[in-house]
Amino acid sequence: MATTERQQQEQENPLLEGLRLKRTPEPCVLVIFGASGDLTRRKLLPALYSLAFRRLLPEQFAVLGVARTESSDDEFREQMKEAVQKHGRDEFRDEVWESLAEGMRYIAIDFADEAGEDRVSRCLAKLDEERGTRGNRVYYFAVPPSAFETLVQEIAERRGREGWSRLIVEKPFGHDLASARHLNGVLTEHFTENEVFRIDHYLGKETVQNMLALRFANGIFEPIWNRQFIDHVEITVAESIGIEGRAAFYEEQGAIRDIFQNHLLQLVALTAMEPPIDFTAESVRNEKVKVLRSMHTPGPKHVVRGQYGRGFVEGIEVPGYREEEGVDAESTTETFVAAKLFVDNWRWADTPFYVRAGKRLARRETTIAIQFQRAPHPPFDELASDGLRPNVLLVHIQPNEGVALEIGAKVPGQGMAIRSVHMDFLYGGAFRTGLPEAYERLILDAMLGDATLFTRTDEVEEQWALVDAIVAAWSRDRPTFPNYAAGTWGPSAADDLLSRDGRAWRRH
Ligand code: BG6
Repeated sequence: MATTERQQQEQENPLLEGLRLKRTPEPCVLVIFGASGDLTRRKLLPALYSLAFRRLLPEQFAVLGVARTESSDDEFREQMKEAVQKHGRDEFRDEVWESLAEGMRYIAIDFADEAGEDRVSRCLAKLDEERGTRGNRVYYFAVPPSAFETLVQEIAERRGREGWSRLIVEKPFGHDLASARHLNGVLTEHFTENEVFRIDHYLGKETVQNMLALRFANGIFEPIWNRQFIDHVEITVAESIGIEGRAAFYEEQGAIRDIFQNHLLQLVALTAMEPPIDFTAESVRNEKVKVLRSMHTPGPKHVVRGQYGRGFVEGIEVPGYREEEGVDAESTTETFVAAKLFVDNWRWADTPFYVRAGKRLARRETTIAIQFQRAPHPPFDELASDGLRPNVLLVHIQPNEGVALEIGAKVPGQGMAIRSVHMDFLYGGAFRTGLPEAYERLILDAMLGDATLFTRTDEVEEQWALVDAIVAAWSRDRPTFPNYAAGTWGPSAADDLLSRDGRAWRRH
């Protein structure tokens, strides 16, 4: 289109201006392995619907659901429609749904059976003809690691000459460093690193990405973002829910593998990383991996594990972890982990990063709190500044998404009393628009081939190396569990971790 024609159209419709920023992926088929599972219903299909709702999907697009459960195309569409109606964030519109459902197919296979893979290949070839998807594939693996390995090999063997292939791999990516290396080996034998998209859905959250905007789009923070001005950092990933019927999965994982190894360490990396030279996948991930590499294993006194017992969450009595269905009555799986971590580099040496994650805590809350040092010499008398705390920058990842800066202010009235108050930025108020779900962003980025918000091999391996070292130390003794009541903020040892340093967890 000629420039003048475009400009004229924009004058008539200023909304076109914004649309220019959006890129639409090339035609492709999204193949979901594990399509009958919870993730597909709760997250993937609602995300695809929201993308369709905003016209962000390519016109030539198809979804192929693959799972063990027997089902027909129509049954699958019907189940997915219900899932979108139940879990979607946008209003349900028949015409949007129809446009998506038209390209939806389902195949039931046994993942270990090669004949099943042949049927998948035939269906994909047919979809290319019918939908014009040109041999381009995004394979989404929402399956256990055991099925994953065979599938990757089968896909590689059947890879056609036409089009590109990308692999989205859900967590858990392995169970420890050795198994993660093995999986990485399987992948790199057949695919290049930029064809592999390892999901850590926290990176798809708007507020997590805002950490990068906050740090690198504002000139005021950089000069003070270091050990000279920051006293310590606190990162909390608290959930009030329990294990939600996922006993088999959780018994294997525990809080350290489920949250600490991925979401929590990624939050540390984003908080501590150096400014990348640009916003490409390689530059951003190069800086994050340096942080992960510079973290040493915390000593046993600097790690606390916990498991919830019976208690009250939001006024309702809930069972202890060992009483949950499917959990061993003597289980030593941790549902809480806290640690004092150090990033040993020039910027952060000796600055503690206190982190904690847990299930059945007092409320759902993910926050990064950057606590600055006290004012060097407040000229007010002690009584007047009794209610004054050091400055804190609070990044509320969820809920109440936003950023707050805690500053000291004069209490109105006679005399000079000082108290801490909050300067708030709330997403809801500033942008008046709902936040997209993490999976919308991540699926779209993978279709576009942008890996910035996915974890690279070396990051995953560094994360596991740290976890392996912690877990190895744990195996030396048996914990006394349960050690915190559901609905509290975790075991008292987690409080001691900070009180020994003359600090306390924030009660945000
Ligand atoms: C998942 C964990 O990765 O993250 C779950 O497996 C956890 O146990 C979930 O509940 C938390 O995600 P969010 O987006 O609700 O904070």
